[in-house]
Amino acid sequence: MLKLGVNIDHVATLREARYRGRGAGEPDPVAAARVAEQAGAHGITAHLREDRRHIQDRDIWQLKEAVQTRLNLEMANAPEIVKIACQLKPDIVCLVPERRLEVTTEGGLDVAHHLYSLSETRKHLNDVGIEVSLFVAPDARQIEASAQVGAQFVELHTGAFAERFDTGPGRAEELARLKQAAQQAHAAGLRVNAGHGLNNENVRVLLGVPHLVELNIGHSLMSRAILSGLDAAVRELLKVMADYRDGAD
Ligand code: PXP
Repeated sequence: MLKLGVNIDHVATLREARYRGRGAGEPDPVAAARVAEQAGAHGITAHLREDRRHIQDRDIWQLKEAVQTRLNLEMANAPEIVKIACQLKPDIVCLVPERRLEVTTEGGLDVAHHLYSLSETRKHLNDVGIEVSLFVAPDARQIEASAQVGAQFVELHTGAFAERFDTGPGRAEELARLKQAAQQAHAAGLRVNAGHGLNNENVRVLLGVPHLVELNIGHSLMSRAILSGLDAAVRELLKVMADYRDGAD
């Protein structure tokens, strides 16, 4: 079964637009996590950014208490945040780029250029029982480096696929890159997640990628939720994902 991780960052984005610095306010990302889980989400994802643009520290501690499924903490490989993660102990951490120099041309983490520091962080996190995922472009060099780091997962960056999906030309090539990257990662012993820019339409096509374990989806779900409610948005997406036939649970 292909799993859905619901990214609740944009619930906090909306709250911060009105209540920044106030220590409370609506909408509450923790309440959103509860609704998503009740609708069938298999995990909740939140990104604690160094600039605290949306999710705040108090959110992740409340999420740790509230989340019944799996908590995936997205974060940069930054000492301050790694320390917080080791105290929080989410089920899994997904390391993502936040600074320009950490980003490959395709937008994922430049694992190949940060092998040592990513390996060290991976060890720290694994040592306290947290699984580690690396958010990478579907690029052979980055997948190979992710296996060298010893990560348990890669999350394939689907941003380029999502962009080409909308514009038409290049869509098949991007899908082929994702398929190849998933195959390479699986063969190297990595488990494969995917995310960024996914929605009810492009996910139908993405289902052709083998070995997928989980999709992490935020913006399109929250956009639909504004019009039809989060419960309905999650259920509708799960129905689309139920057609997946090559999950590697
Ligand atoms: N996965 C990762 C690693 C991300 O950084 C994001 C964006 O925060 C997502 C998935 C979700 O992307 P979107 O909000 O476009 O669905």
